[in-house]
Amino acid sequence: MRGKVRAPWRSRRAAAVRAGAALAATLLGGCALAASGAADWPAYGGNPQGDRYSSLRQIAPGNVAGLREVWRYATGPGDLQTSPLIVDGVLYGVTPDQVVFALDAGSGRELWTHAPRIRNRQPVRGLSYWRDGARRRLFTSHGSFLTALDPQTGRPAAEFGVGGTIDLREGLGRDPATLPVFMTTPGVIYRDLLIVGFRTSETAPAAPGAVRAYDVRSGRLVWTFNLLPRPGEAGSETWPRDAGSTAGGANAWAGMALDARRGIVYAPTGSAVDDFYGGDRRGDNLFANSLVALDAATGRRLWHFQAVRHDIWDRDFPSPPLLLTVRRNGRAVDAVAQPTKQGVLYLFDRVSGRPLFPVEERSASPSDVPGEHAAPSQPHPTLPLPFARQALTAEMLTRRTPQAAAAARAEFARLRNGGPFTPLAVGAQTVVFPGFDGGAEWGGPAADRRRGVIYINSNDIAWTGGLAGAGPAEDPAAALYRSQCANCHGAEREGAPGFPSLAGLRQRLSRQEIESIVVQGRGRMPGFPQIGRQALDRLLDHLLDQAGEPGRELSGPVPAAPRRFTFTGYRKFLDPDGYPAVEPPWGTLNAIDLNTGAYLWRIPLGEYPELASQGVRDTGSENYGGPIVTASGLLFIGATIRDRKLRAFDARTGKLLWQALLPYAGAATPATYQANGRQFVVIATSGQRDPKGLKGSAYVAFALPGPGAGPERNTPGAK
Ligand code: HEC
Repeated sequence: MRGKVRAPWRSRRAAAVRAGAALAATLLGGCALAASGAADWPAYGGNPQGDRYSSLRQIAPGNVAGLREVWRYATGPGDLQTSPLIVDGVLYGVTPDQVVFALDAGSGRELWTHAPRIRNRQPVRGLSYWRDGARRRLFTSHGSFLTALDPQTGRPAAEFGVGGTIDLREGLGRDPATLPVFMTTPGVIYRDLLIVGFRTSETAPAAPGAVRAYDVRSGRLVWTFNLLPRPGEAGSETWPRDAGSTAGGANAWAGMALDARRGIVYAPTGSAVDDFYGGDRRGDNLFANSLVALDAATGRRLWHFQAVRHDIWDRDFPSPPLLLTVRRNGRAVDAVAQPTKQGVLYLFDRVSGRPLFPVEERSASPSDVPGEHAAPSQPHPTLPLPFARQALTAEMLTRRTPQAAAAARAEFARLRNGGPFTPLAVGAQTVVFPGFDGGAEWGGPAADRRRGVIYINSNDIAWTGGLAGAGPAEDPAAALYRSQCANCHGAEREGAPGFPSLAGLRQRLSRQEIESIVVQGRGRMPGFPQIGRQALDRLLDHLLDQAGEPGRELSGPVPAAPRRFTFTGYRKFLDPDGYPAVEPPWGTLNAIDLNTGAYLWRIPLGEYPELASQGVRDTGSENYGGPIVTASGLLFIGATIRDRKLRAFDARTGKLLWQALLPYAGAATPATYQANGRQFVVIATSGQRDPKGLKGSAYVAFALPGPGAGPERNTPGAK
């Protein structure tokens, strides 16, 4: 792929293009927009408040049917979850290999590329842009590293950190070399601070979660808020005594929102580690599974709300929060909305943290797993009603064919099933509904800020989960596999939908290739730098079915003694043909009026093309990546992983107004912007999530044909 930073002439051309874009905008009467910044999409989530709302109106319900693809920029094989930024007519994006690029946003023509020094295949969901007069920075990440680029040239900003880069593993109070810390979702900019969280491993040992603010110019760490409190800090009483130095997780991976006027940053957090067994972390485990409001200038905690106490289901807060204003008793209330994997939505007063709809405490079942202490109750918002089904009953099983119905019934009879927050059990599978991927996911919601209406897409299928204990006299390498890898790749390395089988690896991959995947991670798999050399060698022997030295103890910074109980793998509850074993809709798009909590509309989102061709339409499908909304009353969303479509809906009614087939699934959140007086909608597409799809990725831009448009074509960038 694109290997090097381009020659300087490229950047001069970039400047010329920008100047041209500004001039064209002025000539075409777009000056008001350009001046107000409404033409841009300058932040992940569209703006700091994360409402994915654009005040552009050129593309409207009356003309959206004429939308056409105008350029395509190919970015090679791999997974793209990125929402690009557009500033002053330049689009900034990332390839699956984490090469950052700048394009002329009007034509798709490449201006520069920047390849990171260290290769890593963790997803990069987006970038952050800072400007102060003429000074600008573009922040990107690759694995554990955060790099500041000059957006005009793509060259690292030398004064930032060391040669433009800082290492996010430093300063967490643990040995940086063994810490799995990966920045996947970009941070938010507040004045001269870049505020970030990170992703870590789902199994111990993992990094302790933290929100940190860095000086945008120097890369100096300005403040840290420990999401996993150290001894004596507030919240430490919800953990065992030594947790501050040994436990992990409670990290802010999903992205944040910022109230710039008040200087408050809102950080949603993930589960404590291990995800599914908490016998060694008795207590509520603050600030895991919480929405935490921090003073953006100092990192001081203002308020928090914990949605899952002592999480043993991986019920992370999966999406960035969204800031909006709702009306209550005739008064405007600034609020923060937070969707969940469980399929419920919380709404709080942004300043006080008070819930704006009543939150009930509901009792929850105890766990019968030795050593586990599930929380006796969990919170539940009474409004809005859930946007995904909450408890599976026999009546909800598939009726797609008599065979599928019979198989689903037989399987269902074997499953434990008790509704939300039923603890998993050893040696049995328990229904998790909605599944481990929600409900909501990382794409995030959008809102029409004028009306207080939020739009959320949701998965709506059941998964199952269970626990296994250690076998007697287990080989240390097998135990390491069981504690670190089996949760995704299965106890017998058999894999599961979305998680490759590791059987017969030696026929596919070299030892070196496997090592690099294990250490760096790839796509949905976190890296495991915490596994020491000798242990890694033994794990590779084990994976390659080579003899190694059976029974020998592992040495070095190996994961702490393998957990007593490990997760048996993420399993979707499917029928024998691979379709969800529950009745449709399998995915939905929801419009909820947050002034009242009432649903305005709710529709299935996505189809399986082969079912649709048999007349089985509007089933909905699994979807990843969120919606955007425009002032003209349109909602754009890709997200559906089976039918590869980008769709435009009437935001008021949910009526489908336009759709286009994408080259790969648009499993990412689109962006909209104006360049040269013309409004565009762009989306990152990739083939990684669809087992039957083509492998590749591309950014695809759409616009209306019209004046100032130039010929429609695929650009030279479309390699
Ligand atoms: C959180 C889930 C998860 C965990 C934990 C995990 N993996 Fe993976 N792994 C994946 C996914 C998903 C992929 C496919 C990544 C891609 O190509 O996008 C993968 C890919 C791989 C591959 C490449 C397989 C191929 O055929 O290309 C290897 C090898 C691998 N994992 C080994 C491991 C080992 C060893 C461990 C434990 C140390 C581990 N994984 C832990 C999810 C996981």
